[in-house]
Amino acid sequence: MKVLAIESSCDETAAAVVEDGRLALSSIVSSQIDLHAKYGGVVPEVASRQHLLKIVPVIREALEAANCTLDDIDAVAGTRGPGLAGSLLVGYNAARAIAFGRGLPFIGINHLEGHIYANWLVEGPEPEFPALCLVVSGGHTDLVFMRGHGQYERIGGTRDDAAGEAFDKAGRLLGLPFPGGPHIAKAALEGGPSSLELPRAWLHGTFDFSFSGLKTAVLHTVREGRYPVPEVAWEFQEAVVDVLAGKTSRLARELGARNVLVAGGVAANARLREELQRRCPVPVRIPPPKFCTDNAAMIGAVAGYRLQLGERTPHDVDIFTTNDWAAV
Ligand code: KG4
Ligand code: ZN
Repeated sequence: MKVLAIESSCDETAAAVVEDGRLALSSIVSSQIDLHAKYGGVVPEVASRQHLLKIVPVIREALEAANCTLDDIDAVAGTRGPGLAGSLLVGYNAARAIAFGRGLPFIGINHLEGHIYANWLVEGPEPEFPALCLVVSGGHTDLVFMRGHGQYERIGGTRDDAAGEAFDKAGRLLGLPFPGGPHIAKAALEGGPSSLELPRAWLHGTFDFSFSGLKTAVLHTVREGRYPVPEVAWEFQEAVVDVLAGKTSRLARELGARNVLVAGGVAANARLREELQRRCPVPVRIPPPKFCTDNAAMIGAVAGYRLQLGERTPHDVDIFTTNDWAAV
């Protein structure tokens, strides 16, 4: 079964053709980063206008790259939420319209479930259940226990900034380009080890996270001006990775998870990947970086298993902007 999947929840316009939920025949991502960089963050109106300009060319390119036409497509999937309303509407409505026009099954997909299912796009045996998922993106940081396909229980998560958001804010304080995550990772390569010590919010007795204190500490350090940017970047990254890897490995042990699945843009971070692999008691699965950041192949991966179960999304069901794991 070939699914045409479309994703436009934030600032990437993306389309992909995915076979049987496991094989990405194509995955095209048109990034708007350059447009938003000068504002230091994503501007929702600019994003939705850009999605409108890019959505048709990106879909065409995804079909072409997969050596397909719409005649070869068996179903259409679109990201329903969470995300920016004006952005979501463009891709979701494009997906709905193609399905309606061609008489194909349609399914709306949760973006965060998509990030988790990027782990199914990796060759080899499927992840094993129960799995502990660490979802670390620009908007979300959640520890989610997954007993089976589509069964999620949120155990912990951030009480303030998401991990990606913390990277982006720290990047701005350090004068690095947007988005801060990859630029901090790059700067940190020349920064360690350092005598600088930034705080870790352990929130003992919980599996929650908090990154706002760390962000404030970066602000004070930058104002003091005693440490060069690469050193602050290095210690900031170590502080985030320490808490994320520490809590994830402990929870995996407590829950008896058989796999740890890492998901979302921050999963592209090499230090996080390394520390999770080193500390977790069970095999850690992390998609290749191109499937960690926003893409449509991951949406096609979820659609693959849900369509197989007979799920369809009625055409009058709308987008949503905030996540609820219990309702996925
Ligand atoms: O999942 P994603 O592409 O979009 C959302 O759904 O939010 O995540 C984007 C986030 C940004 O905050 C970005 O700074 C972060 O992922 N990110 C990274 C890296 N690459 C992307 N953070 C740390 N290290 C990276 N290498
Ligand atoms: Zn995302």
